[in-house]
Amino acid sequence: MSTGHVGQVVVVTGAGKGIGRAIAEKFAAAGAHVVVNDIRADAVDAVVAAITASGGTAVGVTADVSDSAQVATIFDTAIEAFGTVDVLVNNAGIVSPMLHFLEADEAWWRRIIDVNLTGHFLCSHRAARIMVDQGAGVIINMSSGGATRAHRAFTAYDASKGGIEALTRAMALDLGPYGIRVCALVPGSIDTEGMDEEARRLRGENIPLGRPGDPDDMAGPALFLASDAARYITGDVIRVDGGMLAQQRSATVDIMPPSNFPKLADLAD
Ligand SMILES: NC(=O)c1ccc[n+]([C@@H]2O[C@H](COP(=O)([O-])OP(=O)(O)OC[C@H]3O[C@@H](n4cnc5c(N)ncnc54)[C@H](O)[C@@H]3O)[C@@H](O)[C@H]2O)c1
Repeated sequence: MSTGHVGQVVVVTGAGKGIGRAIAEKFAAAGAHVVVNDIRADAVDAVVAAITASGGTAVGVTADVSDSAQVATIFDTAIEAFGTVDVLVNNAGIVSPMLHFLEADEAWWRRIIDVNLTGHFLCSHRAARIMVDQGAGVIINMSSGGATRAHRAFTAYDASKGGIEALTRAMALDLGPYGIRVCALVPGSIDTEGMDEEARRLRGENIPLGRPGDPDDMAGPALFLASDAARYITGDVIRVDGGMLAQQRSATVDIMPPSNFPKLADLAD
């Protein structure tokens, strides 16, 4: 297994847009060989073309991560193209449709759990069987603040993300002896749809660092976890949220809002 990113074989699910795309592109720019997965073929083609045009190496696989036969094609393609899998980024996930718990139904629950939680299991299971053979590997799961603090009308999503954090710890214990590390990233409020300036400002008011995240903000932490610099980190959950989950109350309703913070001029001497 390569411990720098050059030549690392990295599978990123749901890499057709948003956070997954940013992570795939960052790995490719760092010299990794990237397997770009998404359920949308047009998105897969666009990302592979963009990586290749920038001088990177990528192959695409259109597949639904909730379907074990389709998941097999992701890893078969990785083996065929690059010979192994060093890193799996389980990024694919769905949030919608939002439904109040009283309006929810079984099909809604099952689809969100299937894609978000079962998708993580199916891809990880395949990847781990490959990584075991080389005695090394890294699996990065994608959680959410919803794993520990609830969103309204997101019961299935929040439950899936809580499951992903528990899965991360449990897999880390089972796979550690085989040299495989398993961690999760917790994105905060990441602007994957291109909010306008006013929407970004309003969203930023409730975030200690003052702005929503951009997809590329998630990429550095992913590359770090996949690197030798993180070789003693496993079973952990790392928040990448501008401080959102560190706060008890949002800035707009806190006892001392940031607008009352001391001005630099008042702090002289
Ligand atoms: N954006 C945020 O603020 C945020 C916050 C917390 C967690 N997350 C998590 O980060 C991950 C990425 O989020 P995003 O905002 O970039 O999402 P996004 O909707 O922008 O992109 C997700 C991609 O996954 C693909 N996808 C959906 N279902 C799939 C399936 N069954 N198989 C394969 N691909 C599939 C979609 O086609 C899409 O290209 C998700 O797991 C999400 O829950 C995002």
